[in-house]
Amino acid sequence: MSGTPFVVRWGIISTGWIAKAFVEDLLLDPKTRGVHDVVHKIVAVGSRSVESAQGFIDTVAGGDKSIKALGSYDALVADNDVDVVYIGTPHTLHYDNTVAAINARKHVLLEKPATSNAAEWADLVRRAKETGVFLMEAMWTRFQPAALAVREIIEKGELGKPVIVDADLSGDFGVENIPTTHRILDPMLGGGAILDLGPYPLFWALHVLYDNPSNGSQPPSRVSGGFVKNARTGVDQNTSFALDFPSIPAQARLSCSINVPAREVGAIVRFRKGTIWVDKPIYCPRGYRVQWFEKEGRDAVVREETVKLTWEGRGMHFEADEVGRCLRDGKLESAAWTHEKTAVAMRVFDEVRRQGGYQLPDGVEKIL
Ligand SMILES: NC(=O)c1ccc[n+]([C@@H]2O[C@H](COP(=O)([O-])OP(=O)(O)OC[C@H]3O[C@@H](n4cnc5c(N)ncnc54)[C@H](OP(=O)(O)O)[C@@H]3O)[C@@H](O)[C@H]2O)c1
Repeated sequence: MSGTPFVVRWGIISTGWIAKAFVEDLLLDPKTRGVHDVVHKIVAVGSRSVESAQGFIDTVAGGDKSIKALGSYDALVADNDVDVVYIGTPHTLHYDNTVAAINARKHVLLEKPATSNAAEWADLVRRAKETGVFLMEAMWTRFQPAALAVREIIEKGELGKPVIVDADLSGDFGVENIPTTHRILDPMLGGGAILDLGPYPLFWALHVLYDNPSNGSQPPSRVSGGFVKNARTGVDQNTSFALDFPSIPAQARLSCSINVPAREVGAIVRFRKGTIWVDKPIYCPRGYRVQWFEKEGRDAVVREETVKLTWEGRGMHFEADEVGRCLRDGKLESAAWTHEKTAVAMRVFDEVRRQGGYQLPDGVEKIL
């Protein structure tokens, strides 16, 4: 392919687990995944301490001297060489960090869950539009090969309309023993299953049902949720939520837990004429299985296909490539993971928390 690739100049906010994972993927040569139109350049890393920023550059980026180590997030967003800021802080800091980046006229890719609540997200969207900057929640699963393949199968229509989406994401965080200030347990940091793990089962529901042509972009007509709380801090620990999409008609049955390992099959999409089984982990499945039934009402399997997918790296680079293409094309929003999809997700989380009686401590939500 000819032409000079578009260079995306990234500034990274925070030096925790996910920032490391994202940067490792950014550093991979895009050609290894067949991408020739964008390349990624890390310009600066911003941390609450300059030592941590430098340590991150040393360990994750081989001490690359061209990357600036900055001792505050303010310095990072003010840096003239940065075009787009990646934000990997705990959930309840996302709003303030994004406001600062937008005020500095920087584009933003923001980790999931985008904010603490739907009101904060709506405010960020308004600010980004007014300022003319790109804004996207980092829903990396949307840009990965498995999600694209599932979409293609559904669009072919051989399985008919989806009827049930059943998805779970769980992880055993050792909640009996970790400090109560750990972000998965601390309500000040938006702890609990729904905000941390919930975005992924919800992703599969939105991808398959909300985005289904028969749904006409209608948000779920009803959200029913409930959970068992963690005994130490009161955050949601074992959480279930169901979403109704009557126009299809279809239902999603979703769940997430912070004290049990992920189950073997992450997501199952059931149609009248077949089933798609998405491998775990559902945030980054590297395979899926499809069964075709003889006909509606007969579950004799007439064909079955198991697909395994391979690529270099973790798979966060696919969303980074999307950001690059949007910036190159002057877009303020990704057509694939829109502002509205994130808004639907945040409203679902608000509603599940409301039904289960989990209020974040006063002052945590910057906008109510
Ligand atoms: N996409 C995914 O698959 C995925 C996976 C895991 C997590 N996440 C998301 O990424 C975010 C961060 O998760 P993580 O696991 O990377 O967390 P983490 O390891 O605890 O890192 C969070 C970083 O945020 C910064 N920070 C600023 N204020 C903080 C505070 N008051 N307490 C703790 N950290 C603070 C710190 O960086 P500095 O010290 O450098 O300032 C810290 O290293 C969460 O919103 C989570 O939902 C996404």
